[in-house]
Amino acid sequence: MGKKNLVSINDFTREEIIKITELAARFEADPHQQVLAGKVIASLFFEPSTRTRLSFESAINHLGGRVIGFSEVSNTSLSKGETFHDTITTISNYCDMIVMRHYIEGAARYAGEISRVPVVNAGDGANQHPSQTLLDLYSIKKTQGRLDDINITMIGDLKYGRTVHSLLQALSHFNPTFTFVAPDELKMPEEYKRFLDSKGIPYTETREILPAINDADIVYMTRVQRERFSDPMEYERMKNVYVLKNDMLQGTKPNMRILHPLPRVGEIDPDVDSNPKAYYFQQTENGVYTRMAIISYLLGVVK
Ligand code: CP
Repeated sequence: MGKKNLVSINDFTREEIIKITELAARFEADPHQQVLAGKVIASLFFEPSTRTRLSFESAINHLGGRVIGFSEVSNTSLSKGETFHDTITTISNYCDMIVMRHYIEGAARYAGEISRVPVVNAGDGANQHPSQTLLDLYSIKKTQGRLDDINITMIGDLKYGRTVHSLLQALSHFNPTFTFVAPDELKMPEEYKRFLDSKGIPYTETREILPAINDADIVYMTRVQRERFSDPMEYERMKNVYVLKNDMLQGTKPNMRILHPLPRVGEIDPDVDSNPKAYYFQQTENGVYTRMAIISYLLGVVK
């Protein structure tokens, strides 16, 4: 395999997605394989992150690799006026792979064109978050025993939430049924609905959580993305539009699981945390194994 980037979830075929979930299971069973010994991975975060940056770095460290990079642009020569192009060109001479988060949609695609080493998109604006999607799929497979024929209800900010956009596209390989719960202002964008129409994948839209969660195998909660709003008043009006509470789960399926990419800022009441259907913290652990799988696969160090 030549240089392969993971910029969009569409960069992976159905078979590659399944392969990543299988590799993630192997790394979960044995997380200390030294397959990245001698490799250097650059972790470049132009936008804040807790889970994505630290789980990538944890994955690299567990596998014997080394991490270089930054999480503060102010500490780099970008702050002196160096261009993004020159920064990526330079850093790609120092490492075997770049993991990058940026607030501009398309930044990771551009970096992938410049860089001489593979680029993994760790989130670009409201566009894509493919490594999150792969860990979401691993979480779905672990909890439901399959990826096929999943009934998934996505709730919250479906307009700006890059995780739901990537997940929708990935699940399209696996015969899903979608229910979208959002206020009119934060509805799933038309381009994604047209994508589902073109594939003949069923979806319904509603503004009400109940009864939309009762038939779901997976309830996928999302945060209203304050950083994507140009009008702070609009954010204030939207931010608590949906709050999932424990007593709302009474009519849900026994094996339903609640996922959330996190961070949450109020959309899941803490009284849900002790419900066995709450899976969002186990989901964060799955991120380490999935990111081990992604890096190892793209570097061709595992079969
Ligand atoms: N899920 C996710 O992307 O979390 P962080 O923003 O903390 O990386």
